[in-house]
Amino acid sequence: MDERTVKELAQRTAKASPQELLDAVLETFGRRVALATSLGAEDQVLTDMLCRLTKRPQIFTLDTGRLPQQTYDTIEATNLRYHIRIEMIFPDTTDVEALTTEHGPNSFCQSVTARENCCYVRKVLPLRRRLSGLEAWITGLRREQSPARGGVERIAWDEANGRVKVCPLADWTTEQVWQYIRDNKVPYNPLHDQGYASIGCACCTRPVKPGEDIRAGRWWWEAPAGGKECGLHVIDGKLVPRKDW
Ligand code: ADX
Ligand code: SF4
Repeated sequence: MDERTVKELAQRTAKASPQELLDAVLETFGRRVALATSLGAEDQVLTDMLCRLTKRPQIFTLDTGRLPQQTYDTIEATNLRYHIRIEMIFPDTTDVEALTTEHGPNSFCQSVTARENCCYVRKVLPLRRRLSGLEAWITGLRREQSPARGGVERIAWDEANGRVKVCPLADWTTEQVWQYIRDNKVPYNPLHDQGYASIGCACCTRPVKPGEDIRAGRWWWEAPAGGKECGLHVIDGKLVPRKDW
């Protein structure tokens, strides 16, 4: 699949609902597409939609080793509800051992660079490994989530990963996400009831206050100027470079 073919697919599905888009993506890529889930609200909606479209959806989560217990509970609840097995992708042991031995278990607090390195080892590299067997990946990114995500397309060529990236909920509002969850009784991460707007590692995510930005609860000790991304999603062509840890 090249960039031109992706553009054709994007044009063909421009007016499609998220479900119709997912259907077209499954038809095009078959077993060569998977959903990356953080077990957050958007990803639970997509899991529900996928499970209605196919019996054996490919769904994986990047288990950083620092996920909250509630996220593991949501994995179990989701597996049970849909009769699926969410694939658990772990970081390379040697990388984590080197990172934590050299800089300690909480290196992410030391600087933005140290935090990006932790995300790189625990999320970005494992994602690349999982994507290597795929032509396309599905994510729960939405434009409303932050100004930096304002340009997210429903389907586009993901230059950083050399794969097609599908974001079926790109133009959905938070209200639409929660309406879908309520209407379809989708199991969701109990952390949302405690004020968590997005779901990430336990040590790097906290609830947001009313009126705060959706991503304000992520790496809250960092200045928001950089867009506060973990490197899974390259925004504005900025790629988190590999550094020595
Ligand atoms: S991010 O900073 O963690 O990337 P966010 O929590 O807003 O941002 O997640 C955006 C999308 O990235 C999710 O909808 C999901 O598709 C993917 N994602 C985030 N975290 C994970 C994870 N741990 N495992 C798999 N996919 C993830
Ligand atoms: Fe490390 Fe925090 Fe990134 Fe998780 S979110 S990988 S703990 S820096």
